[in-house]
Amino acid sequence: MKFFVDSANIDEIKKLNEWGIISGVTTNPSLLSKEKGKPYEVLKQICEIVKGPVSAEVTSLEFNEMIEEAQRLADIHPNIVVKIPFTEDGIKAIKYLSEKGILVNTTLIFNPIQALVAARVGSRYVSPFVGRLDDIGHDGLSIVKEIVEIFTIHDIETEVIAASIRNPRHVLLSALYGAHIATIPPNVFHQMIKHPLTDIGIEKFLEDWKKKEQ
Ligand code: G3P
Repeated sequence: MKFFVDSANIDEIKKLNEWGIISGVTTNPSLLSKEKGKPYEVLKQICEIVKGPVSAEVTSLEFNEMIEEAQRLADIHPNIVVKIPFTEDGIKAIKYLSEKGILVNTTLIFNPIQALVAARVGSRYVSPFVGRLDDIGHDGLSIVKEIVEIFTIHDIETEVIAASIRNPRHVLLSALYGAHIATIPPNVFHQMIKHPLTDIGIEKFLEDWKKKEQ
């Protein structure tokens, strides 16, 4: 499973990119609206930092407007993947854009059938939202598991991005269930690498080392 960062914050993206484990970035209108600077410029900057796919979402809901906006987003940089929400017009847009060679990440996926439909119209990625399903009392990770199973049975190449990740356990189970990618917010990356026994272990090793005559 690859790691993407789910953020539009340039400083956080730079910092995490330096760890060397980031294979891509996902953004959405909410994430971009929190940052300073014009969204298209922020997206361009992100593409210059991370060498991998960068998802940028359309905000139009009507088919013709969606494809025009998708084209404008795709023109920002060759690594841009256009995020399309799963609606009727969205499905038509996914098919149109995929046939034109523009990579699509279908977003706001909340059940496996939506993911299957998106894959069948050519979506390169599908993003099931784990945390938002958990928030309403469902098991978000079971959707990831079922999508991966369906794609495996039917030999579908569309990649599953576990999105709306809220904690390291979401990351762990996404990997166990076979998600190709988890898109992770910066705070969860920091939680993932921290373990109190690692810190205690370092402290003890250094303490013992100081006691020894050199
Ligand atoms: O980028 C899409 C998704 O990861 C959003 O997550 O935390 O707003 O549900 P969240």
